[in-house]
Parts: sequence; C-alpha cells; structure tokens
Amino acid sequence: MKKHAIYPGSFDPLSNGHINLVERALQIFESVTISVAINTKKPSVFGLEERVSMIEKVFEKNDRVRVESFEGLLVEYVQRKKNVIVIRGIRTNYDFEYELALAQANRHLSSTFETIFMMTDPQYSFLSSSMIREIIGLGGSTNGMLPAFIEKALKERLKS
Ligand code: PNS
Repeated sequence: MKKHAIYPGSFDPLSNGHINLVERALQIFESVTISVAINTKKPSVFGLEERVSMIEKVFEKNDRVRVESFEGLLVEYVQRKKNVIVIRGIRTNYDFEYELALAQANRHLSSTFETIFMMTDPQYSFLSSSMIREIIGLGGSTNGMLPAFIEKALKERLKS
C-alpha cells in the first residue's frame, strides 16, 4: 500500500495551483513530500534553498507536509523511499502529453515507479510558474496566483 505522496517539480515559484494540489493530495495520502528538483539545465529565478524555504514557510503549520530537494533522476530519489507514489498535476492536454512521456520514461527506468495524475482545479488551469514570472517581469498583476510574500520576493528579484 503506497501511503505517501511525493510531489516533484521546479516550483520556481510555488503557485496557488501547487498549493491547491498539495491540499487535495492530503485528503488522499497520509503525507505529501514536496520535492524540489535541482535542474542544472533549467536556470531558475530562485535558488534551490530559497525555493525550499519559501515552501516550508507556506506549509509550516502542517506537519503532514515535508519539503526536500533532490538532484539527478527522480526514479533514484524515489527508490530510496518506502511506500511512496509520485503525484503530478495536469492542467491541459499539453500537460498530459508531456506528463505521459515523463511517467512512461520513469516507468521504463524503474518497473515499480507509479505516477498518479491529479487534475488541476479549473480556477488554476491557466496558471504556471513561467506565466507568473512573465507577468511579474512585465509589471502585471499576479494577485491571487501565489502567496503574497513569494510574489513580493519575485517582484524584487525581477526588478530590472
Ligand atoms: O515543475 P517541472 O519543471 O515540470 O518538474 C519536472 C520534474 C522536476 C518533475 C522533472 O524534470 C524531473 O523529474 N526531473 C528530474 C530528472 C529526471 O528524472 N528526469 C526524467 C527522466 S525521463
């Protein structure tokens, strides 16, 4: 029985869509570990430790949520854990195609690897971290898209 969810991603930055997914996953799993990926090929606005500490702050009152980081293959990180299943959010068909390939590649790498897809709440189906970065970078409003303290930090970071 796989009781614990691993939610991997870049989280650059964490959005209200991510938070909604974690809250819903907590209705299904005993715990959720948010696993921030170190991606050397994808430059991030916030460093790894910044992303981890921001996410920790958001979930500081919830002892069923843990925040970790991992480097290298997701399958290897997951293999080091017991009774876990990976969750990923799906917003659109485009996400599905990408996520299907990712899940199947991971399954090819590890025959015990399982992914559960959770559909994003409709109110967040347009939302992505890259869109948030672009809107803030161009001076638009991201009200309601991410926690206020992360929005403030991102505005500071993207100030030219
Ligand atoms: O939030 P993202 O950027 O869509 O998350 C993608 C992530 C981090 C889940 C994915 O890139 C990943 O698993 N990276 C770790 C390296 C790996 O295992 N890649 C997949 C091999 S097919």
